[in-house]
Amino acid sequence: MTQSSATSELEKTDRAAIHCTVGIVGAGAIGCFLGGILAQDKHLEIQFFGRDSIGNELAEYGLGVNVGELRHRQSHVAFYTSQATLLECDVILVTVKATALPQLIPQIKKHARSDVPIVALQNGIGVAAMFEAQLSNPVFRAIVPFNVVKLSPGVFSKASGGELLWPQTGNRRLQYLSRVWSSFGLPVQDVADMQSAEYGKLLLNLNNALNAVSGLPLRQQLLEPDLRRVLAQAMTEWLTICEKAKVKPRTYTAAPAHWLPSILRLPTPLFRLIARQMLAIEPFARSSMWDDVQAGRRTEVMYLNGAVVNAGIIHGVPTPVNAAIVELIKHLEQGEKLNKDVHELSALLFSE
Ligand SMILES: NC(=O)c1ccc[n+]([C@@H]2O[C@H](COP(=O)([O-])OP(=O)(O)OC[C@H]3O[C@@H](n4cnc5c(N)ncnc54)[C@H](OP(=O)(O)O)[C@@H]3O)[C@@H](O)[C@H]2O)c1
Repeated sequence: MTQSSATSELEKTDRAAIHCTVGIVGAGAIGCFLGGILAQDKHLEIQFFGRDSIGNELAEYGLGVNVGELRHRQSHVAFYTSQATLLECDVILVTVKATALPQLIPQIKKHARSDVPIVALQNGIGVAAMFEAQLSNPVFRAIVPFNVVKLSPGVFSKASGGELLWPQTGNRRLQYLSRVWSSFGLPVQDVADMQSAEYGKLLLNLNNALNAVSGLPLRQQLLEPDLRRVLAQAMTEWLTICEKAKVKPRTYTAAPAHWLPSILRLPTPLFRLIARQMLAIEPFARSSMWDDVQAGRRTEVMYLNGAVVNAGIIHGVPTPVNAAIVELIKHLEQGEKLNKDVHELSALLFSE
């Protein structure tokens, strides 16, 4: 699809195109991917906020986005390394990792207008509350259920199925962004119950930390029955909290969310059969938390398994498995090596 044909499609369905400036704060995988699609629309001006290194990369190679068969390219992007220009933005999408929020939110407060909508796209729970505690802006959540990978310098690609879950709202600018993504090939679903979407996504993200702790590629990890039992128990802890909190977690998998622990506890031959979709991953793929640990970065674990531990305290649900996973990640973040085989690790994390 070319830029002009997609734009005219959009105009046919929406005569009230909205001119506005969109700030993408956190020009990484998700920010460049989503912003790169929005930049195809002639009514939108996109400003990217991020690190020097990615700014230089985009200046040299331009920004490319692949969505299925579609290839969207642009040679020039507006890129800023300080947040001062946020003053110009009519909508702000925050696409940094959750660990960057405590430092970033005061910057947004300082530079952004207090009436502009802010959309937080992090994994994890408790994110919107962090913004709301410090800002008077309208704050929205959006969930990214698919993976984005950088294929080559400046080129970001949707690497798995799934639609962007966008807030269902009367805000016309946010409605417009949703239509722009759809018209340029990214499936979007406008969602009323974002809490359910957030809680269901967390259920899946509980494996990010376990994968990092295991040191194994995802597929190999999922074929280890002891580690599946650990994951099943971590999920059960979260599902028990969801039940107490009266939140029905959204299902992202072929099987309903609350079946996942039972599926994980199946003997491996049966699990292979039933979880074919779950196992259809590149043999060497690992969670991005594994990358963070390898790079010596602080991980998002406190917004994932750590959030389960905190919610467990509030709802009176014991969460020993998630707490044990958090502890191991904290050791890894501090440069320690675990040196444990699968059996030692699963015994350390969980014994039935
Ligand atoms: N990537 C995926 O496939 C995927 C899928 C679903 C959900 N998510 C979630 O989406 C969120 C973003 O993930 P991501 O993979 O896009 O992360 P990412 O590639 O690390 O991108 C975030 C970028 O923001 C930069 N940044 C941090 N603080 C900043 C600040 N104050 N001002 C400007 N830039 C700043 C980071 O730089 P530094 O690294 O130097 O801090 C990094 O370049 C995470 O919560 C993640 O869990 C990601």
